[in-house]
Amino acid sequence: MTVHFIGAGPGAPDLLTLRGRDLIAACPVCLYAGSLVPEGVLAHSPPGARIVNTAPMSLDEIIAEITAAHAAGLDVARLHSGDLSIWSAMGEQLRRLRALGIPYTVTPGVPSFSAAAAALEAELTLPGLAQTVVLTRTPGRASAMPEGEKLAAFAATGAVLAIHLSIHLLDQVVAELTPHYGADCPVAIVWRASWPEQRIVRATLATLDAAVGGEMERTALILVGKTLGAADFDESRLYAADYDRRYRPVGAEPRFPEAS
Ligand SMILES: C[S@@+](CC[C@H](N)C(=O)[O-])C[C@H]1O[C@@H](n2cnc3c(N)ncnc32)[C@H](O)[C@@H]1O
Repeated sequence: MTVHFIGAGPGAPDLLTLRGRDLIAACPVCLYAGSLVPEGVLAHSPPGARIVNTAPMSLDEIIAEITAAHAAGLDVARLHSGDLSIWSAMGEQLRRLRALGIPYTVTPGVPSFSAAAAALEAELTLPGLAQTVVLTRTPGRASAMPEGEKLAAFAATGAVLAIHLSIHLLDQVVAELTPHYGADCPVAIVWRASWPEQRIVRATLATLDAAVGGEMERTALILVGKTLGAADFDESRLYAADYDRRYRPVGAEPRFPEAS
């Protein structure tokens, strides 16, 4: 018996990995983390599978479900939205399973920041403008931010910020970021990236409030940084005609002659 932790992706059912789909199809028990895991993903469960929404459950209750499946010898598909490496609460479950000696595997998923960037048709790292993306959030009722992980501290670097779990604090986010990025810095908000009801607002820090209007649906990412919508940036050296590299030696004395 094994518990398979699976990143269910950002919403569109076909943004699930093939490995994730096949594991779900092979598991007679499926535990999923609430409304951000779409029905189309759950539909891969085999007929008669026990499908449980864990949103209203405590960690103890979730572990009890898993322990019962373990006792019955039933494999479990454990689904969380997006990827498992960020804000999935997988860490505490793995710790409990290790203590109980229950085997598990981990299968990654498409994170929501990737789906939001795709919706914007954006490369977030552009030469000369930004080479770092910070995946972050503001403090929540259930999760304080460690000292030092302030939005302003990340903003001081000029990196592109992908701010999760924070749309309800939009005014505060804008106020904290404006002194660092400037009022004319581009911002994009993507609600429910990859879902049929996906919505995008592009603005600047100064115009964001008016552009958003009253929309405050919680499942949204705030992306801030110079690369958003930028047209004026350097081309990468990697594909420059005169750039000598292993797979495309250039010049009379290429650096990697053995590759030619
Ligand atoms: C609990 S976190 C889960 C993050 C997830 N593990 C991931 O890989 O993106 C939920 C937050 O992720 C963001 N999010 C998740 N799915 C999204 C989507 N389809 N579109 C926009 N933001 C999304 C929102 O900021 C939401 O408040």
